[in-house]
Amino acid sequence: MASSLLEVRGVEKRFGELQALGGVDLTVGAQEFHGLIGPNGSGKSTLLHTIAGGLLPDHGTVSLTGRDITRWAVSSRAAVGMSIKFQIARIFPDLTVYDNVLLALQAGQSLGGLLISRSRRRLAAPVMESLRDFRLDTRADDMAGDLSHGEMQWLEIAMALASHPSMLLLDEPTAGMSPEERRVTGDLLRPIKSSCSILIVEHDLDFIRSFCDVITVLEGGKILAEGTPAEIEKNERVREVYVTRV
Ligand SMILES: Nc1ncnc2c1ncn2[C@@H]1O[C@H](COP(=O)(O)OP(=O)(O)OP(=O)(O)O)[C@@H](O)[C@H]1O
Ligand SMILES: [Mg+2]
Repeated sequence: MASSLLEVRGVEKRFGELQALGGVDLTVGAQEFHGLIGPNGSGKSTLLHTIAGGLLPDHGTVSLTGRDITRWAVSSRAAVGMSIKFQIARIFPDLTVYDNVLLALQAGQSLGGLLISRSRRRLAAPVMESLRDFRLDTRADDMAGDLSHGEMQWLEIAMALASHPSMLLLDEPTAGMSPEERRVTGDLLRPIKSSCSILIVEHDLDFIRSFCDVITVLEGGKILAEGTPAEIEKNERVREVYVTRV
C-alpha cells in the first residue's frame, strides 16, 4: 500500500445553520489518483477548500507528509507541495497564455516587475515545457481569454502544476468539456503520477472510474463510501444516491 501523503481527520465546517462538512476522514497516498464524488451540495468543494487553506475547518485536522497544516496560509501550503485548480477559472484573460504560466511559476513577484524582469528569459524553457505538456505551445502568444473552454482548463492545470506540487487538488476540471477533451485531460494528467498525487472532484463517473485508484463518496457532508472504482460501483448505498438524486 502507498504511504500516506494527505491526511484529513474529523474535519467539520459549518456555514451558519448549515453543516457543510460533518466530520470527514480522508487519506490520499503517494502516487494515488483519488476521486471525490457526490450529489450537488454534498460538500466536495468545501472539503477541497479546507484542504487548500481557503477555508478553515471548525474542527479537525489536515496534514501533508505528516505536518499539521490545518491553519497554514495558502502560500505556505504551496511551499510544501500543495496546489489547487478551482471550480471557477482563475486565469488572467488579458495576458498571453505564456504570461499566465510565467506568473504561476513566479508566484509572489509583482506583475509589472515580472513582465519586464530578467526572469522572463530565464523561465522561457520551463514555461514552454509546461505549455507543450498541455498542448498549448502553439497558443503561447494568444490572449488567455481567447482560448476555448477546454484549453482554458488545461492552462489552469498547467499553472497549478508549474510549482511541481506533490499534491494537486482539482475541482471539476472536465466540466463543460467534450468527451474527446475529457479523454485528452486524462491522458495529459496520467504522466504526473510518479511525482504527484491528485484529489479530483468530478461528476463524470466514467472519467472517475477510468482515472482513479480510489473513490470517496460524500453525501450531506459525510462520507458515504470509499473504495476502488469496482467496489464503489457495486455499493448499494452509492447506487441509491446516484439513481435517486443525480
Ligand atoms: N461560502 C459559503 N457560505 C454559505 N454556504 C456555503 C458556502 N459554500 C458552500 N456552501 C453550502 O455548503 C454546501 C456544500 O457546498 P459545496 O460547494 O461544498 O458542494 P459541492 O459538493 O461542491 O457541490 P457542487 O457539486 O454543486 O459543486 C451547500 O449547501 C452550499 O450551498
Ligand atoms: Mg463544488
